[in-house]
Amino acid sequence: MITQHSPLPRILTGIRASGQLHIGNYLSAVKPAVARQQGNELFLFIADLHALTTVKEPQKLREATYDVIATYLAAGLDHTRHAIYLQSDIPTVTELAWYLSCVTGVGFLEKGHAYKDALASQREVNHGVLYYPVLMAADIMLYEADIVPVGKDQKQHVEMARDFAGSFNAVYGDVLKLPTAHIDESVMTVLGLDGRKMSKSYDNTIPVFCDSGTLRKKVMSIKTDSTPLEEPKTLQGTLVGDLFALFASPEEFGDLASRLAAGGMGWGHAKDELFQAMNRELTAPRERYQSYRADEPFLRQVVQEGAERARTVAERVIGRVREAVGVLGRS
Ligand code: ADP
Ligand code: TRP
Repeated sequence: MITQHSPLPRILTGIRASGQLHIGNYLSAVKPAVARQQGNELFLFIADLHALTTVKEPQKLREATYDVIATYLAAGLDHTRHAIYLQSDIPTVTELAWYLSCVTGVGFLEKGHAYKDALASQREVNHGVLYYPVLMAADIMLYEADIVPVGKDQKQHVEMARDFAGSFNAVYGDVLKLPTAHIDESVMTVLGLDGRKMSKSYDNTIPVFCDSGTLRKKVMSIKTDSTPLEEPKTLQGTLVGDLFALFASPEEFGDLASRLAAGGMGWGHAKDELFQAMNRELTAPRERYQSYRADEPFLRQVVQEGAERARTVAERVIGRVREAVGVLGRS
């Protein structure tokens, strides 16, 4: 029988440590998670094991790991009340992934979008890419998550996780708790400097905590059409407009839109206003980020404390799972 845990709903999500976070990650993953601190128990982890499917430079992995921890703290996460931890700090997750893997058909994994994309792109497809959803399922089941907020691109993975846990329960009884995926439909896909989805893989990002000089340069490099300065322009539906809407108030948006529509204003000025709006929102968290990021021993301590909390749950669950499958080993 599944035992009850904390009375607060447990919200769990992971971010891969695969490079500097961009404003798409920040607005759609980091900020919404931190905004749920009241009334929920957060389990936020840095998916460093998952990052290994693509990141092969150890120093880059370490840097990216610290970047993600510092980003959560800069966004206002109260690490004394919620758990922020490294996936690799609790290696039991790989043990649970193995048990799940033994009830999962290979054909099912071959339907994964990420795996199919990797095959289509003719990049090296390592086994980790195929196995990725199984490890992700273990991330979720090991901590008895109630809700797993993810972007649309991760929805299939959470659905697969539920299926694996369902297969496990079908064989071994009611052992694993099935989570609910929570896709916030209002979270839009933030577009990158070239108009495609902003992504670390496309080299088209605006890093969330770059210095203001770099931020300005990035914003100024957004491609716009070549309508002459004096002609009227439409802000809505452009990349500048979409980004401005994320950082400015509706009044500010309306104001800029009408000045552009009146003619006599170039995209350069509009981009400057976009930069000002972004810089206004990002300056305070950037300063906090820089001071956290400069203190790696502190960041390590924060995730170690988080791992202690997470481990308590993990040990209880893995004990139940070992009992169910019949292995006698105890760690
Ligand atoms: P990337 O594509 O840059 O490597 P990740 O796959 O590491 O990003 O995604 C981390 C989180 O950020 C996920 O929750 C994902 O849904 C979200 N995310 C990534 N890119 C964007 C984007 N352009 N707009 C909105 N959310 C995004
Ligand atoms: N796969 C997720 C991503 O690429 C990261 C992740 C790993 C995750 N394990 C998870 C998200 C468990 C939610 C729950 O963004």
